[in-house]
Amino acid sequence: MDPALTAETCSLLRSVRATLKELAEEGVEQFDGRGDAAIELRPRLDAPALQQPDRDFARPQRGGGARTLEDVRLELGECTRCPLCEARNRIVFGDGNPDAALMFIGEGPGQEEDRRGLPFVGRAGELLTRMIERGLEIPRSEVYICNIVKCRPPGNRTPRPDEVSTCKPFLDGQIDAVRPRTIVALGRPATSLLLGRDVSITRVRGTWHEYRGIPLMPTFHPAYLLRQYTAANRKVVWEDLKAALARSRQ
Ligand code: URA
Repeated sequence: MDPALTAETCSLLRSVRATLKELAEEGVEQFDGRGDAAIELRPRLDAPALQQPDRDFARPQRGGGARTLEDVRLELGECTRCPLCEARNRIVFGDGNPDAALMFIGEGPGQEEDRRGLPFVGRAGELLTRMIERGLEIPRSEVYICNIVKCRPPGNRTPRPDEVSTCKPFLDGQIDAVRPRTIVALGRPATSLLLGRDVSITRVRGTWHEYRGIPLMPTFHPAYLLRQYTAANRKVVWEDLKAALARSRQ
């Protein structure tokens, strides 16, 4: 078997094993294989990463038809695929280094993001930027930042499942284009989407997972941190981010 495919299979198996362990810890004894989790766990045989495995993870190869961020943005266009288009001012696609080793995925644009067309530029964004620049000591422009939905949910409500699933191919396109070494999922909606099941962020933060073969670290959303600005919460987020940065440099 192709060694790259073997590595991909092993990484999928590790991911499945970790997820089954968590489900067992949460008291799940069986599932019927028709839920979202089962769909997410099934290897995507059409995914470019499986057809054209990256042999050198440090230097992502974009040959073989893999789309660039520009391709994904063009495909998104002036999107009207879900009702979020009705109230948005600007599509908030993503921001940062297209070759980033570290990628942050949040929930959805807020008011300031919708006004400026950039992710994480409001209050929560300022905190995230401080954590990246002062905490991790890397320029924000070195990482890539985006959200699971690209348009602001009215009143900053949590995006609905149909909105999230409509936007997911574009998030997957961004992940495949950037091929980061590590993903940080910010908060419950982003983490639940990437793990393919509804999770408790308190339970899963700080533990390693995988998405599309990429190590994934869930942590608290900076907006939650702003609301619960305790030393304990700051400490755990700081630990999660340090672990993510270290893994992205391995
Ligand atoms: N919260 C998010 O999840 N994303 C943003 O872009 C801003 C706030």
